[in-house]
Amino acid sequence: MSRFEPLADHSSIGAGVELSAWQTIRRGAQISPELIRGLAGTVMLGVLSTLGRVLVPFVIQRTVDEGILGAAGPDASRVALWVGVALAGVVVTALSSYAVNLRLFTASESGLATLRVQAFRHIHDLSMLTQSTERRGSLVSRVTSDVDTISMFVQFGGLMLVVSSGQILLATGLMLTYSPLLAGVVWACFIPLFFLIRRFQGMVGRAFTRVRERVGAMLGAISEAVVGAATIRAYGIEERTAARIDAAVEAHRREAVGAQIRAVVAFTAGQFVSGLTTAVVLVVGTILAARGELTVGAVLAFLFLVNLFTMPVQQATEILNEMQNAVAGWRRVIGIMDTPADVADPGERGVELPRGPIDVAFEKVSYAYPGGELVLHDVDLQIAPRSRIAVVGETGSGKSTLAKLLTRLMDPTHGRVLVDGVDLREVRFSSLRARVVLVPQEGFLFDANLLDNIRFGRPEASDDEVMLTLTELGLDEWVQGLPLGLATSVGQRGESLSAGERQLVAIARAYLADPDLLVLDEATSAVDPSLEVRLQRALDSLTRGRTSITIAHRLSTAEAADEVVVVDAGLIVERGPHRELVTAGGVYAALHESWAAQQATG
Ligand SMILES: Nc1ncnc2c1ncn2[C@@H]1O[C@H](COP(=O)(O)OP(=O)(O)OP(=O)(O)O)[C@@H](O)[C@H]1O
Ligand SMILES: [Mg+2]
Repeated sequence: MSRFEPLADHSSIGAGVELSAWQTIRRGAQISPELIRGLAGTVMLGVLSTLGRVLVPFVIQRTVDEGILGAAGPDASRVALWVGVALAGVVVTALSSYAVNLRLFTASESGLATLRVQAFRHIHDLSMLTQSTERRGSLVSRVTSDVDTISMFVQFGGLMLVVSSGQILLATGLMLTYSPLLAGVVWACFIPLFFLIRRFQGMVGRAFTRVRERVGAMLGAISEAVVGAATIRAYGIEERTAARIDAAVEAHRREAVGAQIRAVVAFTAGQFVSGLTTAVVLVVGTILAARGELTVGAVLAFLFLVNLFTMPVQQATEILNEMQNAVAGWRRVIGIMDTPADVADPGERGVELPRGPIDVAFEKVSYAYPGGELVLHDVDLQIAPRSRIAVVGETGSGKSTLAKLLTRLMDPTHGRVLVDGVDLREVRFSSLRARVVLVPQEGFLFDANLLDNIRFGRPEASDDEVMLTLTELGLDEWVQGLPLGLATSVGQRGESLSAGERQLVAIARAYLADPDLLVLDEATSAVDPSLEVRLQRALDSLTRGRTSITIAHRLSTAEAADEVVVVDAGLIVERGPHRELVTAGGVYAALHESWAAQQATG
């Protein structure tokens, strides 16, 4: 069903060896063992529930032939006996279907929960490489929708498969004992229906795929209009936007009606054939009964047995489709899970870094983003413990890439990055994350209050520790000036704070985490002068006594650093204290001049 494949471009993920349907199911059951735990019992219960269902037509035959039309006239005690049996059958069916449903739902929910947890955790590891939110987002939606198709099948389809095929088999068995001829008539009617419905189902499935695509397009148009409301108003393109939404809504409506019509036609065709079969059975059965080849009770039983065919045949094709989708979804999720993480935690074998000032070394480090050209070329860089380094350079020169390599969000294509003489690849994640902290260019704020956002730096920190952090960074005054102080909500992604204020929160968070190596990617956006002073002071306190590497976009940061490293087109072209580089008249001097000019005019 899932022709809608927004991920076709991420061909590198999950594009390994294609598993067969059977291998896929086996691997899926391996990942979620809960799915097959107790499956045999569930199947037994399923058979029991169909047995009860087939029992009813059988009881009708016996009641009529022995109880009402018996040789010795009507026999009330016989009727009562068979009614009792029917009652027992109905109760058994009800209880066992309840148990089957319960078992299937609990097994599949816990099995799929395991699958979701593992898949999302793996995506998290995978996405460390490029830190591309977009890719991460589409992988998440892929896993979400794929797991949904699996769950639809294992909960509903799987059950129906057992129940329906059991029902058809048992009903056929009973029919054969009554009259092979009439049983043949029933099959002759239903086989063409199966193929007819299969055709219809294909049409219906494709139609609903188109509906889903339209839903996607519609939601896209609507959310773009909501998110981009400011831009839309600014450029006066409300009408064009509204027209786009109207068109998307209309296209969706048309496809939805079309799909529903096809579904109704398919359903009605099933009903029609089943009615027709009943009529044929009635005619042929009556003729056979008149000739004495069939009892009246058996004819009645046949009429009920025909009904047991209708639902399963209509559902069978749907279940087959669902099964194909489930296998395809499973295959894709397994594909993602079998893609090795780019950055692997050495775990137990890894090195635990001792606390204390860190020294850093880049040894002939080159880096290329997947499928791209080298953006860093043979970078060699030594950074002494406790030194404050500012990294400057044009936009796109490779500064953030340097920062990501240093915090091991990705590994170098060539060369090594060493901390305290240890290759980053050999450092345990737990140790690395505790000792090395990255303050990213656009730090993420969660939709919570200020206090909780800062506390993400060290989740076990108390309120007082957060307060102390703010005092030490000279930010207490700023917080007190906010409407609700620390309880002020930052809004989604921190949208109720200014860019500079968001940076302050990120700094406080990093200070609370208390790392030994701090990698700080300064926000590019301009900050108003009063905040600028505050930011500078906070940064000063944050970097004091630690090794820090700040990607500087502001003159004051570069001036305050012990040394400035100048990156140009993936190469380190200059290094030295601010004063020296300014007088040297190279790349930095030019950059400094343009910054100074900006400051003078801004
Ligand atoms: N996720 C990515 N995938 C592919 N290429 C990337 C990715 N991120 C960055 N690049 C490319 O790598 C090069 C260096 O980018 P980087 O982000 O390191 O620059 P930067 O110096 O931090 O720039 P800025 O000052 O604008 O932040 C650029 O050419 C950029 O296009
Ligand atoms: Mg950058």
